[in-house]
Amino acid sequence: MASSSYLVFLSFFLFLTISQAQAKAFQPKALLLPVTKDSSLLQYTTQIKQRTPLVPIKLTIDVGGRFMWVDCEKGYVSSSYRPVPCDSKICKISRSGACLVMCPAPPRPGCNNNTCYHLLYNPLTDTINSGVMAADAVLVQSTDGRSAGPLVSVPGLFFACGTHSLLKGLSNGAKGIAGLGRSLVSLPSLFASAFKFQRIFAMCLSSSSQSNGVIIFGDGPYEFQFKKEISSSLMYTPLILNPKATAGKYSEDPSTDYFIRLTSIKINGQAVQLNDSLLNIDKEGNGGTKISTVNPYTMMERSIFKAVLKVFMEETKGMTRVASVKPFEYCISSKNLGSTRVGPPVPAIDLGLHNESVSWRIFGMNSMVQVKDDVLCLGFVDGGFNPRTSVVIGGHQLEDNLLQFDLVKRRLGFSSSLLFMQTTCANFNFTSSV
Ligand SMILES: *[C@@H]1O[C@H](CO)[C@@H](O)[C@H](O)[C@H]1NC(C)=O
Ligand SMILES: *[C@@H]1O[C@H](CO)[C@@H](O)[C@H](O)[C@H]1NC(C)=O
Ligand SMILES: *[C@@H]1O[C@H](CO)[C@@H](O)[C@H](O)[C@H]1NC(C)=O
Ligand SMILES: *[C@@H]1O[C@H](CO)[C@@H](O)[C@H](O)[C@H]1NC(C)=O
Repeated sequence: MASSSYLVFLSFFLFLTISQAQAKAFQPKALLLPVTKDSSLLQYTTQIKQRTPLVPIKLTIDVGGRFMWVDCEKGYVSSSYRPVPCDSKICKISRSGACLVMCPAPPRPGCNNNTCYHLLYNPLTDTINSGVMAADAVLVQSTDGRSAGPLVSVPGLFFACGTHSLLKGLSNGAKGIAGLGRSLVSLPSLFASAFKFQRIFAMCLSSSSQSNGVIIFGDGPYEFQFKKEISSSLMYTPLILNPKATAGKYSEDPSTDYFIRLTSIKINGQAVQLNDSLLNIDKEGNGGTKISTVNPYTMMERSIFKAVLKVFMEETKGMTRVASVKPFEYCISSKNLGSTRVGPPVPAIDLGLHNESVSWRIFGMNSMVQVKDDVLCLGFVDGGFNPRTSVVIGGHQLEDNLLQFDLVKRRLGFSSSLLFMQTTCANFNFTSSV
């Protein structure tokens, strides 16, 4: 009798020790989220498991977004939901600037007294609405950078709780925005602090809506089939801080968008005449060049757009121009044009960056858009006069390029087209090793 209960105690103790040891031992070095292209609305979405019980939440990706926000008004059920009080450290870090002292309704997710207040931004409709900070459980897949690893949980991942009406314009079924921006409360920052890895993430958008691209939170390796390791062949350019907000125009805070220093554009080696003052960011935060996942195509201030178009037309004189197809201005016939490994054989466009030796080369795959059979258009759009940001590098130009955002070293690593390395963003191995 005595000995058997001793045994039970012992094995229970052993079990506890082992599971604690395992929980301690498994510290993921990186996490991953799959990225799906919505080819009708031209958005990139992901799915994250949140709440108790866990439910998959579809979110549109905003690479410059301050934080993750979701609709808490409709269908939010969770026993692990926690409001974030106004006087908390995370509220201060999030640069809230306001407190929801009293919510005039029965308590529910998104409505509690004394909660950290924010204005939430929908970049697709350019609208803002009020919200509050909260925390809830999240389950996410770890990775070693080569394939998927064990699922890991974050018991209280901070996010913002918004209204149902703010979802307008998002991909069908999306419940909010996955913000990856330059802030201390974006997903890359929160995941890094939850698992004590560096504030670095890589984003690789697939050009196909049939097979997923990937975001890897954490440092490399970033391996794509078949055995192509990309982190060792990146070029780097500094990430520039824009001192003024570029989303929602509501605050005096620095922008959470990722800006880079574009200094020149060459097409087939021919320099495009550009107005330098538009390429710099002024004191009010106007101008400069940023990276966006919510603009499907690169948008350029009108004088830049016209100048690029002029040189591109000169360099493609031998090709057959056809009627333009909105939203594009310059289209050519692709009949008898042939193709290369990196897309249609059009002149390469080089974005010259912070110094002469660093440029981002854009090949046909990323410069041209197939709008119908036999018609290709230059995939840049006119941003009009006086846009907030002079050049916004959009999704089509980012596809099948790996970008690494390093918030510690404040630099962007970029691969140019992965097709040159005979792989694509859809070639990450999502098969779990466990
Ligand atoms: C907020 O506080 C007021 C006054 O104490 C109370 O009547 C109300 O029910 C509270 N609301 C919530 C959402 O907790
Ligand atoms: C360059 O752009 C700035 C800012 O928009 C404008 O004030 C200036 O007139 C432009 N210069 C030229 C030569 O077009
Ligand atoms: C250009 O920038 C790269 C990356 O920051 C650096 O390694 C290189 O030394 C720079 N070249 C010159 C000529 O300044
Ligand atoms: C994908 O990863 C799994 C798990 O690590 C591995 O068993 C499989 O061989 C990998 N597939 C390829 C094609 O490399």
